[in-house]
Amino acid sequence: MSQYILSIDQGTTSSRAILFDLQGNIHATRQQEFPQQFPASGWVEHDPEAIWSSVTQTCDAVMSEECGERGEVVAVGITNQRETTLVWDRKTGEPVYNAIVWQDRRTASYCESLKAEGLESWVNGKTGLLIDPYFSATKIRWILDNVAGVRERAERGELAFGTVDSFLLWRLTGGREHRTDATNASRTLLFNIHSQKWDPELLELFGIPESLLPEVMDSADDFGQITHGGALNGTSVLGIAGDQQAALFGQTCFGIGMAKSTYGTGCFLMLNTGDKALQSKHRLLTTVAYRVNGKPTYALEGSIFIAGATIQWLRDGLQLIRDACETEPLAEGTPVDHGVYLVPAFTGLGAPYWDPNARGAIFGLTRDTGIKEIVTAGLQSVCYQTKDLQKAMEKDGIRPVTLRVDGGMVANNWVLQFLADILGARVDRPSLVETTALGAAYLAGLKAGVYSSLEQLSDLWRCNRSFEPVMSKEHRDSLYEGWIQAVQKL
Ligand code: G3P
Repeated sequence: MSQYILSIDQGTTSSRAILFDLQGNIHATRQQEFPQQFPASGWVEHDPEAIWSSVTQTCDAVMSEECGERGEVVAVGITNQRETTLVWDRKTGEPVYNAIVWQDRRTASYCESLKAEGLESWVNGKTGLLIDPYFSATKIRWILDNVAGVRERAERGELAFGTVDSFLLWRLTGGREHRTDATNASRTLLFNIHSQKWDPELLELFGIPESLLPEVMDSADDFGQITHGGALNGTSVLGIAGDQQAALFGQTCFGIGMAKSTYGTGCFLMLNTGDKALQSKHRLLTTVAYRVNGKPTYALEGSIFIAGATIQWLRDGLQLIRDACETEPLAEGTPVDHGVYLVPAFTGLGAPYWDPNARGAIFGLTRDTGIKEIVTAGLQSVCYQTKDLQKAMEKDGIRPVTLRVDGGMVANNWVLQFLADILGARVDRPSLVETTALGAAYLAGLKAGVYSSLEQLSDLWRCNRSFEPVMSKEHRDSLYEGWIQAVQKL
């Protein structure tokens, strides 16, 4: 009988269930998109039931059609869109409000008021994060303050908070396990990344009762047995990590200085700093990369809110293209210095600017600007934003020794060549680009004893193609200067 690890990858726009064989190859995958809700300017929500049903349906499909009686799932790993905030009733499992998505900016003015009180460096010292609506704490507070009766119910201990991993674990275990892992906890603004505990002073600052919070476990740990997951019943969840941390793990960036950049809805560049939680002076985040055997490994992270979502907007919003794959030939037929800059600050700007109120703009339009220039500018904006992060890391005195890329956009060779050119650094694309799901499978496999060490996992990484920079420094600098000017005009 074949053996597999099932990875549940619950992302911002879709859920996936992927069966990996024990060598880390994909045996089968199922994916389902679900609706995005934008109830007001800068607000982004998901229906928790749509998240849950997309997960159960993709798991059911992959299990019945691809695993069947000839296969056995030895462990389940969960990876998830991070920071997205859910609060539900401990008795009924009913959410009290929609999931408030990480991109949501509704708490911007509250964050401003905390910053005005001079609290940011104190919060940063404990959490490695900045005060921004991106993280969970102010979203929880918003739910407690704005949904009738919820604060009272929370104070009576009737409610539970979780990021998406916790919510799924709760449901999969029939409400028995209220747990998360250290990577997800480290994105809430409530978790002290040095003591590895929920921080009572932060709970007080944000007015959040401790009874809401899940137990924090290692990323490779026994999270509980599935009882409400159809064909998965009886299997245990043995790995959980936020999706960016899971991608770092799946890219086997285990050495200090190894970095990965993932191009999904957003773009997240993460660099392993080992057992040291390095504090950035240039507005990057310090976060838990993974926690294995009780030992946290830290990372520096640059988070960009809109990357692949730009292409989605060009397709669905502007309808300039019908399919993302049309972007590569369009860009190939366009000179890189066409003069148009698209700054996709649709939900504000993330690292290193952290401006929740910024909104997107296109600069440099002329009478001969056409679809191909705008589409190319969209692709380039993703690369320029990565350059912003590289610059911030360099100013912090760190240069990645490798840059491994993954996520939907890295199928586009033009993007990776332009990225290598604009960074002036080699970019490596692995053979298997589903590294987020793979990372969760590796974590679950480690706990299950399928893999014995991180070294063994490193040996499984394979390069598909390396992109070397060919652009001159002068050309790169002048293109990037145009980007900086565009951002400054916002
Ligand atoms: O921090 C947000 C991030 O985890 C979302 O990732 O892949 O859904 O864009 P993704």
